[in-house]
Amino acid sequence: MIDVLLGLQWGDEGKGKIVDYLAASYNIIARFQGGPNAGHTLYVDGKKVVLRTIPSGVFHSHCLNLIGNGVVIDPVSLQQEIEQLLPLRPDVLQRLFIAHRAHLILPTHRALDAASEASKGEDKIGSTLKGIGPCYMDKTGRNGLRIGDILSKDFRKKYDKLTQKHLQMLRQYDAVPDWEQWEQPFFDACEYLRSLQIINSEYWLDKLLKQGKKVLAEGAQGSMLDIDYGTYPFVTSSNTIAAGVCNGLGVAPSRIGEVYGITKAYCTRVGSGPFPTELDDATGEELRKVGNEFGAVTGRSRRCGWIDLVALKYTVMLSGVTKLIITKADVLDNFNPIKAAVAYIADGTETNELPYDLCDVSITPVYKNFPGWDKPISTCSTFDETPQVFRDYCSFVEQYLETKIAFISNGTGRDQLLTIF
Ligand code: IMP
Ligand code: MG
Repeated sequence: MIDVLLGLQWGDEGKGKIVDYLAASYNIIARFQGGPNAGHTLYVDGKKVVLRTIPSGVFHSHCLNLIGNGVVIDPVSLQQEIEQLLPLRPDVLQRLFIAHRAHLILPTHRALDAASEASKGEDKIGSTLKGIGPCYMDKTGRNGLRIGDILSKDFRKKYDKLTQKHLQMLRQYDAVPDWEQWEQPFFDACEYLRSLQIINSEYWLDKLLKQGKKVLAEGAQGSMLDIDYGTYPFVTSSNTIAAGVCNGLGVAPSRIGEVYGITKAYCTRVGSGPFPTELDDATGEELRKVGNEFGAVTGRSRRCGWIDLVALKYTVMLSGVTKLIITKADVLDNFNPIKAAVAYIADGTETNELPYDLCDVSITPVYKNFPGWDKPISTCSTFDETPQVFRDYCSFVEQYLETKIAFISNGTGRDQLLTIF
């Protein structure tokens, strides 16, 4: 069976820490979408490590790690990540596998990302500018280069052909970064990647699954950034919901088992786009400060607000979440009251459904208030030790989302995780 773990909000739900914890019970951790726009933060041996493309199972010596075909890879970024990991886990390369079919991010993809964002002015997406969108455009446009191509003797020819096309596109923009400086490091990194284990991962996974091995698919970004169901056009360019696992790894839907869905106890978003429960006030500022809400990849400060149960119910539905995980619950320790959006007033009408045109309607959230709790939950080591008001809040969330909570993370430490089953 293959279990799935994904974010239910706009990313940064704390997936890295949870995958790192769950990895103990899995044989393979596989990334199925996204690319180096992701930043999964882990604390290993007291050291902070940010993973971008490599799955978060890498710190468990029994875990194999697969970068699946649905992922887009920046060779330079991947090489840097490996080099950062080697002193910590010298066997990282033996346990790392890359799908032949994963697409390559070229220097000109990054240039196109930057030029296109700059040209959008006020309407900019707030992209991480890692070349993700242009790379997926070439994939669906049937022009892209894949990791397998770096093994081909015609690689340079294929690269030049695509780059020429990009140069024509770049001519329409005024602000084009000096991408040529990225070319040599790109080729050097491609040379390095040639020595890695590049495989037909769909067959590889099938064989391991038939042997009874346990696979965990690790999502990146969040469900509200999904290309189809997110707050389009303020989204990323891949399917971040559970369905993305099937085409991002080449596994059949019947093989999917548990779906772990992660949400913060509040809500954040980095980049532009609608965010109905956003707080533009001192409470929002306090959430950012206490929650240390600054991007792992870009360092940008994250927008903060209350938990949005309307959006969560939607994303729980889309992925068929079977187990909920609430992270950063300790951040709410000093807030009173604590609020949760339970409905929207959309253009004057109350609704429990997420409007498809969230970007164009005016939304006022309807909140349910919860009293703050009287003792910090960061110091609790079991769920039963947590204050009654916190447990009431949790059961309300469970009832609203019709899904049971499996874990609650109450601090950044690897051991600050309350298990509830
Ligand atoms: P892109 O995927 O880098 O083009 O970014 C598109 C949007 O998704 C922007 O709003 C980004 O801030 C957001 N985004 C992309 N990756 C992440 C992530 O890993 N965490 C949170 N937001 C992300
Ligand atoms: Mg992140």
